[in-house]
Formats: sequence, structure tokens, C-alpha cells
Amino acid sequence: MTGTRVVGFGHFQPARVVTNAEMETIVETSDEWIQRRVGIKERRWASEDETVEVMATKAAQDALAKANMNASQIDMIILASCTTFDHSPNVASRVALALEMTNDPVALDINTACSGFTHGVALASQAIAAGSNETVMVIGVDKLTDVTDFTDRSTVVLTADGAGAAILTAADEQGVSPVVWGAIPQMGSAVRIERKNNDKFAQEGQAVYRWATSELPKIAKQIVEKAGLTPDDLAAIVLHQANLRIIEPLARKIGAPNAIVATDVVYSGNTSAASVPLALSKLLEEHPLPSGAPILMFAFGGGLSYAGQVIKAP
Ligand SMILES: CC(C)(COP(=O)(O)OP(=O)(O)OC[C@H]1O[C@@H](n2cnc3c(N)ncnc32)[C@H](O)[C@@H]1OP(=O)(O)O)[C@@H](O)C(=O)NCCC(=O)NCCS
Repeated sequence: MTGTRVVGFGHFQPARVVTNAEMETIVETSDEWIQRRVGIKERRWASEDETVEVMATKAAQDALAKANMNASQIDMIILASCTTFDHSPNVASRVALALEMTNDPVALDINTACSGFTHGVALASQAIAAGSNETVMVIGVDKLTDVTDFTDRSTVVLTADGAGAAILTAADEQGVSPVVWGAIPQMGSAVRIERKNNDKFAQEGQAVYRWATSELPKIAKQIVEKAGLTPDDLAAIVLHQANLRIIEPLARKIGAPNAIVATDVVYSGNTSAASVPLALSKLLEEHPLPSGAPILMFAFGGGLSYAGQVIKAP
């Protein structure tokens, strides 16, 4: 078996909802500005106890329950995040401990910021194709409020917390297409979380916006081509949930008339590495897709990095 199938998604969001009206009490902004420029109505912020590790574990447990599996069947955890501060043991192995895994799982933390989850899915599918692993949990998790400057209105209105997870297993057929991925290091300074800036998130929003709207449509089309499909075949499109003003035009340029387009940014804000699996897990709950339906996942962000593939619905 050298194919890979995604057999389940799961997610976790903190209970605390922060509306744009509350945001108006934190910085000088308005519901009108936020909705017009970004499309966000509300976001979820984690409590002190809802750490990256806790949120990741809850998303993993949800994915296990939905796939009707138990943790001992997982032989590798790939955890994507840019907001982990405890470096050893890494967060993947902390999640393995919380899941009471005793089967010596591979436990990897990876960081390509907002595109971490789709990078992780590619690595998982390659580990399975190489025969080194059979069942991999990929988690995207970020607690952006840990790196948010609550006095900076240009970023605080965007950032949010959450986790999403997917389980991939070896299969006879191929359910994960070849990844299209890369980075533009020359533009790396456009999105930063740096020690010299007290680990606070900062970005050149206009530069990222221009890059996203001019370059990403071509890459999205390459992903669909590499999957051997046309946009007409897509049942859903799940893009990185940074800004509705990026998601909607990009989806239009991909031109997939039959696809449901995830717009979870409206209610969840930007959750970085969690955004694609969180949006997709919620989309599958609201609109159950037939097993095997093609779903385009495509994320971009810090690096500037990007990665995407088409998966078959569980
Ligand atoms: C961040 C983003 C929403 C900002 O929207 P924008 O239209 O580019 O806005 P600008 O940064 O040019 O700011 C425009 C004005 O709004 C003001 N502004 C910024 N934040 C504001 C807020 N929360 N409320 C009110 N006004 C605000 C700015 O000060 C500026 O005022 P000025 O014209 O008087 O100088 C947008 O650029 C974006 O989404 N970029 C891509 C981000 C992304 O995808 N990142 C990926 C990594 S996660």
C-alpha cells in the first residue's frame, strides 16, 4: 500500500468569543472597518489554561473520535505551530503523553507559520508512501494571542486561537495529491514573530495582500493540475483564513463552480497553522461531503511560505 487517505478531521476552539464590539473597547477601531477590510465578525481567544498543547490534544481527540480510532493506532504525530515556546520535550511529544500513547510514536514539531498544516499533510503522506509510517496525526495549532501586541490595532483585530487535526492512513488508492510548496525568503520580513520584538506578531499587511492576490491564483491552479483534476471537479476549497478579501477573489480566480468555499475567518479570525484544518473540520460538520469528494487545501503565510494539495473527503 503506497496510497494515503485522510480518514478524519477534528478541531478545538476556545469558548471565549471576542466580538468586534469588544474589540472597539481594546483599540481605536470599528466593526465597520474590520468587516470591510478583513471580513471578521468575531474571533475566539484562549484562556491561560488553554495552551497550545491543550488545544492540540483536544483537536486530536476529536479527530480520533470522528475516525473511530484510538491513539495507540497513531504511529506519528506532526504538529505544526509558530507559537510553541516549550522546545523540549516538543509539543508533539507532550500531546502524545496527554493521549497516553505508549507505542513510541514519532513526534515532530514543524514551523512554517500559517502554512504549517498543509506542509505537515505533505510530510505525512510522504512518510506513509515511503513505508516508514502507517497512520499519522497532523495537527495545526496556534495561540496567536500569546504573540499579539494588544495595543496594535493593525494586528490585534486579526489574531485568534485554535487547533485542527487530521488523521492519515496507508491506503490502496491515493487520496492525497502531490503537494505544491515553496517559500519566498526575500519577502520573509513581511510577516514576523521575532525575539527582538518581544515575540510579537507584526506584518506588512499590504505587501502580503498584494503577493497573495497576484501570485497565489497561479499556484492554486498548479495544485489542481498536479492532482490531475480541473476546478470543475472540486467539491470544496479551503484556503488559509487570513482575510475574506483574499479568500473570495482567490476562490473566484480558481473558478470552481461546484465548490463550497470555506469562510470560517468570519467567525474564527486568523488562527495561523490551525486555520485550514479548523475551517475544513467545521465545513465537513456543516456540509457532509460524499466520501472521496475532492477538496483543495491551500495555505500561505510567514516565510513567506505556501503549501497545498487536493485531498479526498474522509
Ligand atoms: C492586514 C490587512 C487586513 C490590513 O488592511 P489594509 O486595507 O491593507 O489596511 P492598511 O494596513 O493599509 O491600513 C489602512 C488604514 O487603516 C488603519 N487601520 C489599521 N488597522 C485598523 C483598525 N483595526 N481599525 C481601524 N483602522 C485601522 C491604518 O492605520 C491605515 O490608516 P491611514 O490610512 O490613516 O494610515 C490587509 O493588508 C491584509 O489582510 N493583508 C494580508 C495579511 C495576511 O494574509 N497575512 C498572512 C500571514 S497570517
